[in-house]
Amino acid sequence: MMADFDREHGLTLQQDYFGDPSAWKGLVELLEDTFSIDVSIQDRFGGPDPTSMPFGYFDPDGRCVANFTAFSMPLIVNGKPVKAAGYQSGAVRTEWRERGLYRDLMQRAFAQTAAEGYELDLLLTDKPALYERYGFRTLPQHLFVAKMPKLQQAASTARQLSLEAPNDLRLIKSLLQNRQPVSNQFAVARQMEMFLLNASFNSAIRLTALGDEAIIAWTFDGATFWLLDIAATAIPSLATILSALDVEPERIEICFSPDRLECEVSSEPYEGYTVLMARGKAADDITGPLMLSPMAEF
Ligand SMILES: CC(C)(COP(=O)(O)OP(=O)(O)OC[C@H]1O[C@@H](n2cnc3c(N)ncnc32)[C@H](O)[C@@H]1OP(=O)(O)O)[C@@H](O)C(=O)NCCC(=O)NCCS
Repeated sequence: MMADFDREHGLTLQQDYFGDPSAWKGLVELLEDTFSIDVSIQDRFGGPDPTSMPFGYFDPDGRCVANFTAFSMPLIVNGKPVKAAGYQSGAVRTEWRERGLYRDLMQRAFAQTAAEGYELDLLLTDKPALYERYGFRTLPQHLFVAKMPKLQQAASTARQLSLEAPNDLRLIKSLLQNRQPVSNQFAVARQMEMFLLNASFNSAIRLTALGDEAIIAWTFDGATFWLLDIAATAIPSLATILSALDVEPERIEICFSPDRLECEVSSEPYEGYTVLMARGKAADDITGPLMLSPMAEF
């Protein structure tokens, strides 16, 4: 039996409420107050992920006091498509904590994705104990340190993109929609909104187009080159990427499973601020060192 917060506390449960601008604003404020992030930036790129299944409690003044959102995050795992759900935007306002609101919202979201046949659940958290009781297990992540490949004559021209330029944004969105998974081992098959949000949150991230077929998300501090993601209709090799970007780093770190990059790598444990957790019948198929691209982080 789920608790009746509506009656006990005068709260209203809202589901699928992103179409309601004042309720969406309520969530934006909850996330701003809880995590100091502004997700309303997404309004500039076409709004939040349309697959979102938000569950929120609102007080009589329309303030969002608690939320938990599921969304569809189709993956490729070992070459096979996996119907996966991600969970994000989990927060409860301080004065409403420790009354079971979060438990209630998690149970509702998990029940919905189970009913819709999702075979894998994924989340990122700094509080793994909270989710272990629901069967989530930590998936250790690894960074991949690549040997410097032999550079070639650049085959395509590299062009720096800006999220502020409408034509660039159009190209980025189109390649995100039509991309090949960046890895056959473990990668998102389709995810647009988090890529755009992550790119706009971190001004160090560069988005560079190689021709009209590939966008490379990367950062470089003068010594280390971090390859964050590739949105492309055909995945270029690491040699092609470095040649086109015209960088010769001392160290190359690849932040996703690098099986399609035609390069030599060694893996190193990655200690992030959050851990990646998974559960569900497809979770056992996830083996070997892997990393979720920082551009798909949610
Ligand atoms: C974490 C948070 C969402 C919990 O909200 P809440 O409404 O107080 O949680 P509930 O009262 O529904 O408790 C749900 C369960 O989580 C447990 N829990 C709560 N906070 C926890 C924590 N920090 N670590 C581990 N378990 C925790 C409770 O003991 C309870 O367990 P039970 O179901 O076995 O009784 C809230 O403290 C919060 O918003 N924190 C800041 C943002 C955050 O960390 N969000 C989660 C990001 S992954």
